[in-house]
Amino acid sequence: MIDRTLISEERIAARLDELAREIDTAYAGREILAVGVLKGSVFFLTDLLKRLSTPVAVDFLQVRSYAGTSSTGNFELVRDLSSDIAGRDVLIFEDVVDTGLTLRKLLGLLGTRQPRSLKIAALLKKDLPENADLPVDFLGFTIGPEFVVGYGLDLDEKYRNLPFVAIWDPTR
Ligand code: IMP
Repeated sequence: MIDRTLISEERIAARLDELAREIDTAYAGREILAVGVLKGSVFFLTDLLKRLSTPVAVDFLQVRSYAGTSSTGNFELVRDLSSDIAGRDVLIFEDVVDTGLTLRKLLGLLGTRQPRSLKIAALLKKDLPENADLPVDFLGFTIGPEFVVGYGLDLDEKYRNLPFVAIWDPTR
């Protein structure tokens, strides 16, 4: 069951204000192609994009790597982008970086399509040795290794619409 709130709605909103300012500064004079990784990043992406002054286009892709509360270690591209990213400033939106497998694969895949730049925005990054070398350009919060739900994050499709991030405790 839901154990406790880890990051409140208010803290998320305040951090998104800061991230939007960082992104506007980094992309001054450019246009961003925001790439949302379905489905978990949708809440983060829409709330953050509403705060940006930089012109932005949006596209989505979908990957599969998780079942229940553990990564399967496999990566499958379920739905590809509908846009050509060549020559564009691509900013990938991810909900949480866990092992880093998803983003490593996506950086490899999208990197072959000649974007002008390719950066990462993530709401959460778990503090784990497996993902320590993975550069997240715009990061909301660093968290512990626990499984979390809410604000887009699910457990088998449940809890995505919680307005805050909560820890899931399998023992309760
Ligand atoms: P990675 O490929 O191991 O970095 O895992 C990334 C994906 O696994 C995320 O986009 C999520 O969909 C899912 N995931 C990893 N940790 C959690 C979690 O704590 N709660 C919900 N989903 C998670």
